[in-house]
Amino acid sequence: MRIYQTKDYQEMSRKAANIIFAQIVSKPDAVLGLATGSTPIGTYQNLVKWYQSGDLDFSQIRSVNLDEYKGLAADNDQSYAYFMRTNLFSHVNINPANTNIPNGLETDIEMECSRYNNVIHALGGIDLQLLGLGGNGHIGFNEPDDFFEKGTHCVKLTEDTIKANARFFSSMDEVPQYAYSMGIQNIMEARKILLIASGASKAEALYKSLCGPITPAVPASILQLHPHVSIVADEEALSLIRKHRCL
Ligand code: GLP
Repeated sequence: MRIYQTKDYQEMSRKAANIIFAQIVSKPDAVLGLATGSTPIGTYQNLVKWYQSGDLDFSQIRSVNLDEYKGLAADNDQSYAYFMRTNLFSHVNINPANTNIPNGLETDIEMECSRYNNVIHALGGIDLQLLGLGGNGHIGFNEPDDFFEKGTHCVKLTEDTIKANARFFSSMDEVPQYAYSMGIQNIMEARKILLIASGASKAEALYKSLCGPITPAVPASILQLHPHVSIVADEEALSLIRKHRCL
């Protein structure tokens, strides 16, 4: 595991974008596993800037997103499909046909989960998976549980997650209760993983994930077992890890 400590969110975003840049340059048809949430927005902004300056080419890039709210259409402005279009896809030359996100409108859960697992498989797996971190240690929408979910599954979101994500909706009642998410095995099979975290609100989750026991109660703790993980986090997010000198 490699840890890059940055001064603040801006520096975290630049460093994370640098790592994705290196992946795209070294393999122009790479399969990128992409994430949503507020944390990756700055990373995507840097990638867009480098595309606009002619330094990056997404024409052969394929992508798979971690998750999507169940019940939201791709044109709903709270959907992750919409997030990806507005924050990255519509600003770069990625072929929309090469981007993949679970279909939030599919009501046949088994069919959608197996379709999405097949999509990842057919792409030959993920070269670089970008991850944010939930305040309770979740990755994608893999919530704390008694066991690690392997493949794509439909999750009942926890109260904590619904509350945390309510800031993007006009009221708590509007936050979907369920989501489709890649499972832990899908994520762990990625050849490389890049976890980003910023701010004091992530310090405890990051500390538990990287220094605590490996347990499904803290889903991101499984990353301790991955052979190629980079953590890019700012001082505040790394504060407890530094305080306990555990890494
Ligand atoms: C959501 C997403 C996660 C993301 C998390 C943290 O629950 N499903 O992929 O990592 O939020 O979001 P933020 O970066 O806004 O703190």
